[in-house]
Amino acid sequence: MRILLLVFLLVGYSSCETPEQRARQLVSTLTLDEKISLVHGSRGSYVGVTPAIPRVNIPQANDQDGPQGESFLSRNTNVTSVGVGDGLKNVTFWPCTLSVISTWDPELMEQYAAAIGWEQRQKGVNIHLGPMVNIARNPVGGRNFESFGEDPHLSSIMADRYVRGVQSNRIVATVKHFVLNNQEYNRTTTSANAGIRATWEIYYPAFHSAVKAGVGAVMCSYNRINDTWACENQETLNRDLKGKMNFTGFVMSDWGATHSTAKAANNGLDQEMPDGTYFGQPLKDAVINGQVSQERLDDMVVRFLTALYRVGIMDELQTGTTTTNARNSTHDALSRKLAAASAVLLKNDDETLPIKDTVKKIAIIGLDGNDRVTAGGGGSGGVVPPYVVTPLQGIKSRAGPDVQITYDDGSDLKRAAALAAKSDLAVVFVSSWSSEGSDRQNLNVQSNGDQLIEAIAAAQPETIVHGFVAGAVVMPWHSKVKSIVVQFFPGQEVGNAVADVLFGDVNPSARLPVTFPISYDQVPAEKKTQYPGVDNEANYDEGLFVGYRWYDQKKQKPLYPFGHGLSYTRFKYGEAEVVENSDGSFNFTFPVANAGKRSGAEMYLSYPTSALEPPRVLRGFEKVQLEAGQMQKMNFRLGEEDMQIWNVVEDRWTAVKGRFTAHFGSSSRNLHTKKAFNRN
Ligand SMILES: *[C@@H]1O[C@H](CO)[C@@H](O)[C@H](O)[C@H]1NC(C)=O
Ligand SMILES: *[C@@H]1O[C@H](CO)[C@@H](O)[C@H](O)[C@H]1NC(C)=O
Ligand SMILES: *[C@@H]1O[C@H](CO)[C@@H](O)[C@H](O)[C@H]1NC(C)=O
Ligand SMILES: *[C@@H]1O[C@H](CO)[C@@H](O)[C@H](O)[C@H]1NC(C)=O
Ligand SMILES: *[C@@H]1O[C@H](CO)[C@@H](O)[C@H](O)[C@H]1NC(C)=O
Ligand SMILES: *[C@@H]1O[C@H](CO)[C@@H](O)[C@H](O)[C@H]1NC(C)=O
Ligand SMILES: *[C@@H]1O[C@H](CO)[C@@H](O)[C@H](O)[C@H]1NC(C)=O
Repeated sequence: MRILLLVFLLVGYSSCETPEQRARQLVSTLTLDEKISLVHGSRGSYVGVTPAIPRVNIPQANDQDGPQGESFLSRNTNVTSVGVGDGLKNVTFWPCTLSVISTWDPELMEQYAAAIGWEQRQKGVNIHLGPMVNIARNPVGGRNFESFGEDPHLSSIMADRYVRGVQSNRIVATVKHFVLNNQEYNRTTTSANAGIRATWEIYYPAFHSAVKAGVGAVMCSYNRINDTWACENQETLNRDLKGKMNFTGFVMSDWGATHSTAKAANNGLDQEMPDGTYFGQPLKDAVINGQVSQERLDDMVVRFLTALYRVGIMDELQTGTTTTNARNSTHDALSRKLAAASAVLLKNDDETLPIKDTVKKIAIIGLDGNDRVTAGGGGSGGVVPPYVVTPLQGIKSRAGPDVQITYDDGSDLKRAAALAAKSDLAVVFVSSWSSEGSDRQNLNVQSNGDQLIEAIAAAQPETIVHGFVAGAVVMPWHSKVKSIVVQFFPGQEVGNAVADVLFGDVNPSARLPVTFPISYDQVPAEKKTQYPGVDNEANYDEGLFVGYRWYDQKKQKPLYPFGHGLSYTRFKYGEAEVVENSDGSFNFTFPVANAGKRSGAEMYLSYPTSALEPPRVLRGFEKVQLEAGQMQKMNFRLGEEDMQIWNVVEDRWTAVKGRFTAHFGSSSRNLHTKKAFNRN
């Protein structure tokens, strides 16, 4: 009875004060030692922990990775090994974030993040270590599969939804890694040196969007920025994040990314993870001897508790534990839906897909077809799968008894080609794997994938390639095969999702969130001084020309452009119209008509100004579902925030005036209609 009454009083009390006021009030009652205990991690059953202070009802905070699901052990996607069934970590093995990004569907992103957060809460977690929004600057980047792709607008829209989804579960989301942490190679030593305009226009927007969505924590990164460690960087932390972006939550260090005590504390770091090397006793000493002020220590704790109050952690006890079974059949189904929705149909000559009823013999070729399904990436984003449905299993169960399905692991090219030759159709499964800790060494698919595809395509004209990829891959064989599908790591339901798409139960509607180059020498930041850097200095002197902006500027034709993705149906686009609103914003409409079932549409805005501007920048996208023969008018709005650039002289956003052209299309290169307008 007493406890119930107390809870009631706390709830009543909470309604009249803001989270920040409540945090400030609580901090005024803490001792110095209690404050110090909250600004650094301690080892526990989670990757990061801060202790409970029962005296004042502060719960233990449990931090855990991450994208792809709840990470308790390192990856094991070898579905024939005991590792998979054995440890059952009792969580869903989700598609990676880049996979969900490729759906271009913010609603699906929010459902994904909410479900991951829900499972983490069952597991006793209250601080989720995601989203990971570092821009995919160079396609070999080892963590690109966890990222939101190469475009700041797409990343921002999706980061907002991810944060809202996670935090709807009374869990703090942690947007990471702040900032300019775009490579794994020498990640703990390299200085990322970028101009301030590219920093604001390319690398900050997704972080800023997460801040506006109310994200509780920001994780500063391993790298240096302009030669100063990211976790003790006055410009990026105090001036930009807490100053210009008004971030009121806390900055936590990446694991081992703290390098000083007073400098880090005074320049903006609020919490050291995972231990107290700098923010334990040394910080206490620094406060006592005045190198760090009492006010600053209070601010560090207030920021941490503000984040906990804001999502409700202080008002409801966390009851989950690491051994709770958080599996959920609704989540298994959502995982399948997401994986199918994220399949990008890159090529489909002669409408080879979906597989027709006349096909009676299908050869499944390659390790990824069954023995080693590369359904997830590694590192802190890795997950031990509860199960993995292999493509062979998924295709067999969908095709039914009348279709003969055979499998060859592809280790012997001649044997595999012979099997393909006597089948009606061959599907070659290939992959590229990637992990935190290192970048990919090249953009080719792994093992003997390239040779295997060549051998199968030479033996069987009806060859389909299906790739599970970490990011962009090169396809020296692309002209020799009929159809190509890629999925960024699709998770536990991979085989069912593959069957959903190959047999047409799901009409592909995903689009590339990264450009696929013809070869590595075509990619942005390809100079050694840019990536991986020389003597631990990486110069971002490609500036704004990241991703498709680079290819557009260089007038280079990539293999598959940003936004590319086909459907099993065709669309027609009408002419665009524009009206100016009284507040200076513009509304556009253009009709999309459909010969089939499903569509996506996007908008690209081209700036009017000098040759130094990227030719086109994405400023809106909209996905629409259309029935056969249906037509719909698409609406887009361009507000002030869409037509400004970072003014390096005045150090703020300023409006661009003049003549603009808005392009509307289905990829960054497949533009159907455009509309010019003046902004005065
Ligand atoms: C998968 O694991 C099993 C058992 O550990 C091993 O024998 C097999 O070689 C592995 N397969 C691959 C493709 O790694
Ligand atoms: C499955 O998860 C959802 C949240 O995504 C939750 O609402 C539902 O209660 C869960 N179902 C079970 C059986 O736990
Ligand atoms: C990094 O240095 C460049 C070149 O001096 C400067 O323009 C930029 O503002 C600096 N970045 C930050 C975040 O201060
Ligand atoms: C930050 O807050 C200040 C004062 O509350 C406000 O004037 C400013 O517009 C805010 N800036 C942003 C970027 O939200
Ligand atoms: C999985 O959940 C079951 C209860 O359903 C539990 O007995 C088991 O210990 C859990 N396994 C792990 C590794 O958490
Ligand atoms: C990577 O780091 C090592 C050790 O600091 C250094 O010797 C090497 O030059 C670095 N590589 C690059 C390309 O900067
Ligand atoms: C412009 O679009 C907004 C919604 O995006 C709508 O509220 C407004 O009425 C439209 N303005 C005009 C002039 O059609």
